[in-house]
Amino acid sequence: MSKALNIGMVGYGFMARAHSNAWADVAHFFDTGYRPVLKAAAARNASKLRHFAGMWGYESIESDWRTLVGRKDIDAIDICVPNDLHAEIAIAAAKAGKMVLCEKPLARSEAEGVPMVEAVEKARVPNMVWYNYRRVPAVSLVKELVAKGKIGRVFHYRAKFLQDWTISPEVPQGGAGTWRLDVDAAGSGVTGDLIAHCLDTAIWINGSIASLTAMTETFIKERKHVITGEVQKVGIDDAAAVLTRFQNGSLGTFESTRYARGHKALYTLEINGEHGSFAWDLHDMNRLQWFDHKVDGQLRGWSSVLVTDGDHPYLGKWWVPGLIIGYEHSFIHQVADFLEGLNTGRPAAPTFRDALETTRVCDAIIASGKSGQWVNL
Ligand SMILES: NC(=O)c1ccc[n+]([C@@H]2O[C@H](COP(=O)([O-])OP(=O)(O)OC[C@H]3O[C@@H](n4cnc5c(N)ncnc54)[C@H](O)[C@@H]3O)[C@@H](O)[C@H]2O)c1
Repeated sequence: MSKALNIGMVGYGFMARAHSNAWADVAHFFDTGYRPVLKAAAARNASKLRHFAGMWGYESIESDWRTLVGRKDIDAIDICVPNDLHAEIAIAAAKAGKMVLCEKPLARSEAEGVPMVEAVEKARVPNMVWYNYRRVPAVSLVKELVAKGKIGRVFHYRAKFLQDWTISPEVPQGGAGTWRLDVDAAGSGVTGDLIAHCLDTAIWINGSIASLTAMTETFIKERKHVITGEVQKVGIDDAAAVLTRFQNGSLGTFESTRYARGHKALYTLEINGEHGSFAWDLHDMNRLQWFDHKVDGQLRGWSSVLVTDGDHPYLGKWWVPGLIIGYEHSFIHQVADFLEGLNTGRPAAPTFRDALETTRVCDAIIASGKSGQWVNL
């Protein structure tokens, strides 16, 4: 018999839906010994919350996350709210002895993240940050093959995350939907929102970053604030381009913007090594491009692997070879790994402590963007 795990969801937005789907689906495909129960959801807007809870089958709702965190029948708190709320909720949840799963970035800054790490470690509660792109099977496969030495010494790692939704100066900052443009709510712009994803994958696959220099820009300097109604200075980075040196001696480049007309959410990565290269693109997420220099010269070239076979990461749990999966599966895989970690006692990564490293690198990008200097990490 599987054990019930009662989930307390905070928020009802984009990520609350992605996570609710994952909690609801995981036990149908992954036999982890746990059966997540959508016990309660908390947010401030009662009618929207009720609608969300009804759609997903939450058993109850709370108008204040503090009540949710205090409930004895909740095992795990899942934080799906804007970045400025992560620390307070996570620390309260850890103090209440709950498992804590927090959306990325862990915090708006390393300084804000440190007490979060201390709180979960002091309380010894399982914890994880939702850097879900690690769990796209093609990306997980890159990690597996690089770790096995398939491409040998790594020379280059490059990643981009491109969007185009804030080009109009009419897009406001702050409030529901546009909190990402308000530096107080978000902490930073594309750095914490998008490059953070690229960094998490990069550090996981290629190891820690030793130093970096960054160029950041805020193209639209003032925007109306939804909450104050005033036109206010924009404090986030609209775009960032980063050069890094990894501790393993390889070089990295990272670029992100919300001003790349035509791109909605294009995350791409490439890694070049002595014996070969891997390239991956979120818009063709089931495929992995692979170049093997060891192949005979006349036949050597890039090949495109459809990552759907039973011996590819996670795919043995899904359909038959050749049938693709989607974005939502990355969250299901993350939940499956979290539950497996409860079973084995080997926590699923990234833990809060792992994710703090990414936040530290984000801080360095913002600092370097301002100073124009290299930053040692
Ligand atoms: N892993 C990913 O790929 C990914 C993608 C998108 C967002 N995120 C992260 O997820 C988090 C949420 O982003 P989103 O896109 O779901 O945002 P969203 O704007 O869609 O939803 C935010 C939710 O927070 C709720 N909220 C705001 N203040 C609250 C409060 N005081 N108490 C309770 N609820 C409150 C809102 O009602 C809303 O339901 C952010 O940290 C973001 O960086 C991660």
